[in-house]
Amino acid sequence: MSTVETSRSGSVAVVRFGEPPVNSLGLATRQALAAAISAAIADPGVSAIVLAGRNGTFSAGADIKEFATGGMITAPNLHDVIALVAGSPKPIVAAIEGTCLGGGLELALGAHYRVAVATAKVGLPEVKLGLLPGAGGTQRLPRLIGVENALNVILSGEPVPAKLFAGSALFDALVNEDPAGAATTLAAAKAGELAGKAPPRARDRSAAGPLVEPLLGFARTTAGAAYAAYPAPLKIIDALEAAATQSFEDGLATERQLFAELMVTPVSRALRHAFFAERAASKIPDVPESTPVRPIASAAIIGAGTMGTGIAINFLNAGIPVFLLEVGKEALDKGVARIADTYAGQVKKGRLKPADAEARGKLLTPTLSYDDIGGADIVIEAVFEDMAIKEKVFTTLDAVMKPGAILASNTSTLDLDRIAAVTKRPGDVVGTHFFSPANIMKLLEVVRGKATAPDVLATTMKLARTLKKTAVVSGVCDGFIGNRMLEQYLRQALFLVDEGADPAAIDAACEKFGFAMGPFRVSDLAGNDIGWHIRKRRALEHPDVVYSKIADKLCELGRFGQKTGGGWYDYKPGDRNAYPSKVVADLIAAHRQAIGVTPRKVSSREIVDRLVFALVNEGAHILAEGIAQRASDIDIVYLTGYGFPVFRGGPMCYADEIGLYAVALRMRELARNPYGDPGFWTPAPLIERLAASGGSFNSAGARP
Ligand SMILES: NC(=O)c1ccc[n+]([C@@H]2O[C@H](COP(=O)([O-])OP(=O)(O)OC[C@H]3O[C@@H](n4cnc5c(N)ncnc54)[C@H](O)[C@@H]3O)[C@@H](O)[C@H]2O)c1
Repeated sequence: MSTVETSRSGSVAVVRFGEPPVNSLGLATRQALAAAISAAIADPGVSAIVLAGRNGTFSAGADIKEFATGGMITAPNLHDVIALVAGSPKPIVAAIEGTCLGGGLELALGAHYRVAVATAKVGLPEVKLGLLPGAGGTQRLPRLIGVENALNVILSGEPVPAKLFAGSALFDALVNEDPAGAATTLAAAKAGELAGKAPPRARDRSAAGPLVEPLLGFARTTAGAAYAAYPAPLKIIDALEAAATQSFEDGLATERQLFAELMVTPVSRALRHAFFAERAASKIPDVPESTPVRPIASAAIIGAGTMGTGIAINFLNAGIPVFLLEVGKEALDKGVARIADTYAGQVKKGRLKPADAEARGKLLTPTLSYDDIGGADIVIEAVFEDMAIKEKVFTTLDAVMKPGAILASNTSTLDLDRIAAVTKRPGDVVGTHFFSPANIMKLLEVVRGKATAPDVLATTMKLARTLKKTAVVSGVCDGFIGNRMLEQYLRQALFLVDEGADPAAIDAACEKFGFAMGPFRVSDLAGNDIGWHIRKRRALEHPDVVYSKIADKLCELGRFGQKTGGGWYDYKPGDRNAYPSKVVADLIAAHRQAIGVTPRKVSSREIVDRLVFALVNEGAHILAEGIAQRASDIDIVYLTGYGFPVFRGGPMCYADEIGLYAVALRMRELARNPYGDPGFWTPAPLIERLAASGGSFNSAGARP
């Protein structure tokens, strides 16, 4: 079926365009649209044209796949189509409903009149991809709603309801329903009024005004400070200045130039990479989208601790009833109280209606008996991180759960295949590694055991979407994708302390690089005891792995972080700020002396290179082993779960941007440092191979 169809209502041609789901403006649609509009203009029986989207929506904009292929510039490009619309001698009315975003809104801005459903969402989200609206949006929108409103719309990138612009020149009419019908009536009336005169165009209006310059000056200062790492906001302001100070044609040329400059920035590349990476993460090559899924209408959670309660909240928020099971009444009551407190806090902050909190609470059934939970569609185990306990729990689950129930474990480090092996249904066992706080963090590592059935995986990925999580598939290994890489990052962080960098300097370098928080502040927040327990286990399992002992010494002082009032930093009650600690400074000085290290000055560059390349090297091993399906999945893990700067696209994208040849070279340079683990900086074979061939992690063929 063609992507465009034209019908007639009297002398008005109604052109409906687009393919489901969002009527994006890819080449086929543009071609058909241009042909339909040209035909309507040429048809002597047509007096006016209505432009409407099919599928109950206008258009979500450009076909983003064309960003990658360059197809967006193939004629007729969006500029060509908009110029055809704007230059039509017959009035064209855009009929807007659903979403009207990006290129979709720019197309509507090219029309002579616009009619919208009051609740339709309009916006220009290009800034989120490090770009600006490049098809006239920065020039037409300020002419219709003023520079200040246009600044807000374009800088935020957020979709807003059409009714916010009631009374502005953006909309000629707002309706509650049938925008195409209202647009047809308006089109017929305007054709009569104009009687052959040229219809009005946005370009003929002015965006100039006495307050524009001071406003833009203020915006530059604010945007420069708030989005220092991002080039798009300042260029958006430049484009709006052009709208107010240049002719329309010159303004369009300025917009085009600024757009082209942004397209080639590493930040825009990184943001576009992240956009595609998130979509790719939900795909599993050998589990097609047609794989049937099991219904999930109820859940059970074993263990009402930190994670169990957080996971329960996710289900309750999604309207799925949850059984919460504990070993003892006290722990169960504590867990239930934690869930109630979370909802009470949200109600107090006005984020949740009391009635909704109550409804969610009613979906929770606390229990001490496995007899209650057998009918649940999925059970998620979140008990202590201890293999013997988990094996016991799974043996019981195997006995009590109905056939077809999914048996999931929230283990962060243990072997899922061993857990699955204690059941008679290893195909039903999957890992669901939530991150803490589980009701807030977006990331979910879905751990695929060697026996996990395809429909169990497909169901878990679908469930992740229901719970509003970003799921990434990981194979079985100690720490899965995220924590396995983090371990190398943390080893380097502690070696850096041994050698002379203070925790505050390391955190500052990481935060300047763009991390939400440096490793020591994160550790104080999460609890230094967690890593301590893991290191103790590792020391038994892998006695050969070299570690700095400084973190253990800190824990021996009981300095577990914020929860104990002190960790790498000091904390004051009711104050989240981290203060330098004299105790820690003395501890570090004594430690360096004890290991015979004379502290040296470590540059911020060395700090960042060592921490980030530690992630990259382990990421390369993870990719080569097939633990991660693709490099971009690793990036998503770090962007959504570990506060890696989004504008750098994730560790693997960052390494690709530098070039793997340069990364390998730097690793060999770092290997010359005699301190620490002598084998640490041997580049992973995958890095060596890609460096030699000029390849990259995120290009095809990165996998062995
Ligand atoms: N805390 C984190 O940051 C985090 C993050 C990701 C994954 N995990 C994993 O999640 C799991 C739970 O961790 P947590 O931090 O919530 O621990 P926690 O100590 O806060 O809670 C564990 C709960 O399990 C209960 N429990 C113990 N044995 C049980 C049994 N046999 N039956 C029923 N309940 C039992 C305990 O009473 C306790 O309430 C662990 O496997 C851990 O590795 C933790």
